[in-house]
Amino acid sequence: MDHGKIEKNLGLMLVLTMFAISIGGLVEIVPLFFIKGTIEDVRNADGIKMVRPYTPLEQRGRDIYVREGCYLCHSQMIRPFRDEAMRYGHYSLAAESQYDHPFQWGSKRTGPDLARVGKKYSNEWHVQHLIAPRSMVPESVMPNYPWLLSTALDTSDITSRMKALRTTGVPYSINKAEYDNNVKEFGEDVAKQLHIPDAQKNLIEQAQTGKYDGNPADITEMDAMVAYLQVLGTMVDFSKLDSDNFVKFR
Ligand code: HEC
Repeated sequence: MDHGKIEKNLGLMLVLTMFAISIGGLVEIVPLFFIKGTIEDVRNADGIKMVRPYTPLEQRGRDIYVREGCYLCHSQMIRPFRDEAMRYGHYSLAAESQYDHPFQWGSKRTGPDLARVGKKYSNEWHVQHLIAPRSMVPESVMPNYPWLLSTALDTSDITSRMKALRTTGVPYSINKAEYDNNVKEFGEDVAKQLHIPDAQKNLIEQAQTGKYDGNPADITEMDAMVAYLQVLGTMVDFSKLDSDNFVKFR
């Protein structure tokens, strides 16, 4: 066809452009749904999965993280470049965000990447930093979030929240068969935390014993937020894995 005709006809140009782009999409994206290694299956020596869904308390923290818009300044994905790995640690695996709906990868880094912030600081540090960032890091431009400590955590809807995530494929269990399967995949301690009928009980227990906001008497949004931040990037124990382990997935 005469090329001039395409360039002067906006509709035709649009259709042909979409056609060309969709071939690229099909070739690059469709195989990801069929290749087994798209999400790495990371297990420890006993065959137990290292990456697990969040506990009810951590999940509530994650919901508050999304509500407060922390993702507007923080990414949660360490790219596989040397400078990033030196600053933040091992690059993020797809497996590490497989239960995140929606994922928090992002690309805006007004603040540092948080994909491996878990266990980097103490709980007390996080509480103080979230109430008043500049009391810990004087040059910080992060906003204060003092209400996290004074707002009681709503624990009543955790069951519905977990059921919603279940529909996206997160393996929270509701019956004995699913629970037993989780015991096989994640071990008994984790499977208990993933059982929806016990969610509220588990949430309260973790908040009271975890010493997240420093006050076991009240369960606050701070408890949930700190529990969530402290687990980020800590599930995969890279010291137990061969550094070449993930090469085949690249
Ligand atoms: C306006 C941008 C902005 C927003 C919104 C923001 N932060 Fe930050 N954050 C920063 C900056 C800048 C730093 C680096 C200075 C500091 O440590 O305060 C930081 C640092 C952090 C750190 C320490 C990271 C490290 O490795 O030292 C954590 C944890 C953190 N933020 C959590 C949060 C959480 C949770 C929220 C939402 C409740 C949030 N941030 C919202 C800008 C932001």
